[in-house]
Amino acid sequence: MQLPRQPTEVHMTSSSQAHAVARPIPHVCPWWLGWSLLFPGRGWFLNPDRLVAPLIEHDCRVLEVGPGNGFVTVSLAERVGPEGRVYCVDLQERMLTALQRRMRRRGLAERISTRVCSKTDLGVSDLAGSIDVAVLIYMLHEVAEPGLVLRQVATTLRSSGKLLLVEPKGHCPAGLFAEQIRLAGEVGLRPAAQQPEYASRLPQALVLERQQ
Ligand SMILES: C[S@@+](CC[C@H](N)C(=O)[O-])C[C@H]1O[C@@H](n2cnc3c(N)ncnc32)[C@H](O)[C@@H]1O
Repeated sequence: MQLPRQPTEVHMTSSSQAHAVARPIPHVCPWWLGWSLLFPGRGWFLNPDRLVAPLIEHDCRVLEVGPGNGFVTVSLAERVGPEGRVYCVDLQERMLTALQRRMRRRGLAERISTRVCSKTDLGVSDLAGSIDVAVLIYMLHEVAEPGLVLRQVATTLRSSGKLLLVEPKGHCPAGLFAEQIRLAGEVGLRPAAQQPEYASRLPQALVLERQQ
């Protein structure tokens, strides 16, 4: 995604004022730029099939927050099979409309369900403890209160459930990525002992696991 560089500020996370992290001012990718996330060639440096294959099994229940137009959702829905489910939660209804269209064209619409959320509430409390894998791709740097989103995501995960976090280098400085991982630790999500080979070769990708 080639959005213009954003100004940098010192952002204080609400969970701990002791951790000041220089980060771009959070900026949500507008819906009308959603198509640009599907540009041909993106798969060369972020291959959705290879990214999710080691994590997603048949019949899995998956939560994807910030799916946009569904660059990764197609691979998720293909892998969960007809009995699995991908819950797609996004701030922007128009992103989800484009996502549904894309899934319908591929005959995968029955495998996903979409929800519009607010900046402070993902609206996923009914999924508590039921999700096998949560997926946050190129979205957490857009969130003003990442700790809040991570807490809600963690609550949806079953014991030992996984969170796949991938952030773009251009929009998420290394310090911010480290801060996101620290915040994940505060809500009981720790780096999994075994990292999938493909994800571990990406510049900023990590699989976290919900502690028992
Ligand atoms: C850069 S796009 C990435 C889309 C997709 N994951 C991809 O990699 O192509 C970020 C997406 O996250 C969504 N988003 C941003 N903040 C959010 C929040 N607090 N809760 C849910 N979705 C959010 C945006 O609306 C947008 O669809």
